[in-house]
Amino acid sequence: MNAAATPTLTQDELKTLVGQAALQYVTPGSIVGVGTGSTVNKFIDALASIKDQIQGAVSSSEASTQRLKALGIAVFDSNAVPELAVYIDGADEIDAQGHMVKGGGAALTREKIVAAQSRQFVCIVDESKLVSSLGRFPLPVEVIPMASQRIARQFAAMGGTATLRLKDGQPLVTDNGQHILDVTGLSITDPLAFESQVNQWPGVVTVGVFAHQKATVCLMGTASGVKTITYA
Ligand code: A5P
Repeated sequence: MNAAATPTLTQDELKTLVGQAALQYVTPGSIVGVGTGSTVNKFIDALASIKDQIQGAVSSSEASTQRLKALGIAVFDSNAVPELAVYIDGADEIDAQGHMVKGGGAALTREKIVAAQSRQFVCIVDESKLVSSLGRFPLPVEVIPMASQRIARQFAAMGGTATLRLKDGQPLVTDNGQHILDVTGLSITDPLAFESQVNQWPGVVTVGVFAHQKATVCLMGTASGVKTITYA
């Protein structure tokens, strides 16, 4: 008989673990790219413990900027920093190749911008985010409001159902002043092609598939600890 069962970590504890583990990718003196979401909030809290060793951060949302500043971490304009060594962010889904769905927190556009200016994308997730194929989580798409209905019809033609994201009964307005469609019913078997295709539709600001800006490393919180996955 086992003397004692291994304590099961909660999802929140797994997020704390991976948030802390991501500190190993932060080099002294650097400016760090910082994502958005509950897992990244754990990373930001951990980053505060070494804030005197870094210059600061480039942030992907107003929410992360507020949290960084409240903890005394300087926030730089992305235009002032040509290249970042590392971007650290969560995901709503990640597949075995490091392709992700992101945008559950509505910050996908700025997340993709900061990811694009970073040499390395370290994705921090708990293992519930691992999928065999993207499409389980409703796909966030940031759109120009006047195009939302036509874009919804384009998704319908692909077999998807697009729903305008609401907040307090009104269309949610992103940090960029735009709207979000959440699309269900899609099976995204070729993430690179899908991202390229949807990005070309007039009125699409950003599609929440991150295949061109996929993860280079994933720190995955599992029952047996943090698993590090590196992608080609
Ligand atoms: C924010 O817009 C998203 O891309 C987040 O990275 C994603 O939703 C993961 O968030 P959690 O860490 O809160 O699950």
